[in-house]
Amino acid sequence: MISIKTPATSANLGAGFDALGLAVSLYNYVEMEESDKVEIISADGTQIPTDESNMVYIAARDLFEVCGKKLRGLKIRQTNNIPMTRGLGSSSACIVAGLVGANKLLRSPLGNDDIVDLSAQIEGHPDNTAPALLGGIVTAVFDGRKVHWVKQEVFTKLKLAAVIPDFELSTTKARACLPKQIDFRDAVYNLSRAALFSASLLTGKFENLKTGVDDRLHQPYRMELIPGGKEVFEIAYAHGAYAAYVSGAGPTIMAIADEDNEFFAGKVQFSLDNAGLTGWKVRELKIDNNGTQIIDAN
Ligand code: HSE
Repeated sequence: MISIKTPATSANLGAGFDALGLAVSLYNYVEMEESDKVEIISADGTQIPTDESNMVYIAARDLFEVCGKKLRGLKIRQTNNIPMTRGLGSSSACIVAGLVGANKLLRSPLGNDDIVDLSAQIEGHPDNTAPALLGGIVTAVFDGRKVHWVKQEVFTKLKLAAVIPDFELSTTKARACLPKQIDFRDAVYNLSRAALFSASLLTGKFENLKTGVDDRLHQPYRMELIPGGKEVFEIAYAHGAYAAYVSGAGPTIMAIADEDNEFFAGKVQFSLDNAGLTGWKVRELKIDNNGTQIIDAN
């Protein structure tokens, strides 16, 4: 039985659409062993597919195929702490857990680079899958086959607050609302900010983060699909956030604050409740530098 721990991830980081992502301290757990049939159990009662459409299973089967092996069946037990369809990388966590578990079952024929590539091929973009596997902040370019990536560990005095609404927004819908073409000036607007964001995060120039998360490629369009989102931004900044951005495809809004900003998450929650935005729940998180871990294999 292989036991795997996989972090949630927050993609885009504002301007770095499909390119930047970081891992956070909220985890799914998957136990996996080979079997004669497909048997999938939700350990915590979360509604998950229990047939061959299950993402952990699909990823594991794909890895077996890539390695030229036939998967007879799998017994999978999932604990899903990462809320689904909320912009926190729940599907990437399942994909990565399936790949890492299957790789271990086959005695690790594939290395990290292969698993980064395979996970992006399954998901279609690398900015959740790569940090889910590697941890830290990951800069990634997916050329359709291979991911060119850098992982950097983050040791800063920062905390995160994920402000998670009680409604879902599918990535498909949140990608469908994006423009087919953009203005040259908007491209420059974004690439300069994405570069500024990661350099500032890693060097501690936090006063740049608010500028760094601003973008013209996706957030203005997606905010139309996130009722209450504008107020969440305002409340986060009113309580001293360095930055706030739509996490991945949304609808979660991620706020970044100084570690010394006492009770930041609690103050944001209090203001949201006072404003009548009671469907939004704030969860304080840290950056996870470890990525996916095999916590047991026997
Ligand atoms: N980069 C992706 C998007 C992340 O914004 O659509 C969502 O999973």
